[in-house]
Amino acid sequence: MTHSSHFDFVFQDTRPDERAQHEPTDLSTKRTPLTLLHRSSNYAIVGATGLVGQELLKLLTKDGQNNIRLAASEASLGQSYLLNGRQWVVERLSADFFKDVAVAFFCASKYVSLEWVPIALECGCTCIDNSSAYRHAPSVPLVIPEINGHLLRDQPQLIANPNCSTLITLMALYPLHKAFGLKRFWASTYQAVSGAGRLGLQELDDQVQAAASGHSPLPHQAFSAPIAFNAIPSIGDFCHSGYTTEEEKMLHESRKILGLSTLRVSTTCVRIPIRRAHSIAISAEFEQLIDLDVAKEALRAAPGIEVLDLPKVPTPLAFSSRTKCGVGRLRIDSALENGLSLWVSGDQLLKGAAFNAFQLSQKMGPK
Ligand SMILES: NC(=O)c1ccc[n+]([C@@H]2O[C@H](COP(=O)([O-])OP(=O)(O)OC[C@H]3O[C@@H](n4cnc5c(N)ncnc54)[C@H](OP(=O)(O)O)[C@@H]3O)[C@@H](O)[C@H]2O)c1
Repeated sequence: MTHSSHFDFVFQDTRPDERAQHEPTDLSTKRTPLTLLHRSSNYAIVGATGLVGQELLKLLTKDGQNNIRLAASEASLGQSYLLNGRQWVVERLSADFFKDVAVAFFCASKYVSLEWVPIALECGCTCIDNSSAYRHAPSVPLVIPEINGHLLRDQPQLIANPNCSTLITLMALYPLHKAFGLKRFWASTYQAVSGAGRLGLQELDDQVQAAASGHSPLPHQAFSAPIAFNAIPSIGDFCHSGYTTEEEKMLHESRKILGLSTLRVSTTCVRIPIRRAHSIAISAEFEQLIDLDVAKEALRAAPGIEVLDLPKVPTPLAFSSRTKCGVGRLRIDSALENGLSLWVSGDQLLKGAAFNAFQLSQKMGPK
């Protein structure tokens, strides 16, 4: 397997000295990579018919992988896809499904992960989970390869993929944190409907079509209000704190990934009527005085980032179907001490989910 042959990604172990700041990996979830050898189906995708699963299938086949097993719900049994001149058929999920699989990607709900990840682990698979099921487990590393990829050196058997908005936000903030020392940040997200899966995408398409033909927007199911020509400041469930579960992910996952257990974060998550790629407006306060040129240089030098200078600005459309995140609108924040304001756009189905998982598998998968 080649590492980065088709993608604008370079794996970097960026923080070798900071391993001690992260929670220890439970020894019970580690095993020698030798068990990855001699497995005839190298990869499995659970949730292969969904938006994230389909992106993963494309990434793996583009990388030349031929041994991939697919599973989804019972409703998709036997469904097939023609990719790379080959038919890929959805199988039934069972313990046998994981036999001979080296790396299992979980791209379904957290309930599916809670039920099936333990079974896959028992079968000896390395599991990469896109759901929120295991992100907070102290023994499970939550990894963005460009930030805390050093955690993969321990060859954990279960790795959690971070929340998509958090991941894209941290891609922009981490190089600045290294340069100036992050103290706290505020984030307002502009999240695409595909972040809510196939149903979210369908709901926007249906409502736009209905409105274009002169009908009122159709009833809403995927979102808490009509999404066409609207903006909904409510993603996830409301917590006692008044924040939503999606907003709390930004706080807790940022702390875990950056190894900053007391980091203060305030987020407002907003769903907007675009199909793909999330954007985040960030205002961040740092320990050190900000030099705008140094900030830009730090971002330009960071893997997975493209910096746009004015009058160019990153937009979700421009960064859709791309693995890099676009950063722009960099300016000294006028309300904060040592503050910077910036904007980042990134494809949440790729860097925010499937591509990050693919990067993890490149480090963990069969060689
Ligand atoms: N969408 C994003 O931008 C994004 C970003 C980061 C993380 N994630 C996470 O990634 C996961 C997948 O998201 P998605 O957007 O791809 O969702 P999706 O488009 O709604 O797809 C869900 C997938 O789960 C499968 N599934 C449903 N019930 C199942 C069951 N009982 N057993 C096995 N498979 C089952 C579905 O199969 P059927 O087709 O048979 O129903 C489908 O393949 C979620 O945990 C989500 O939170 C999503």
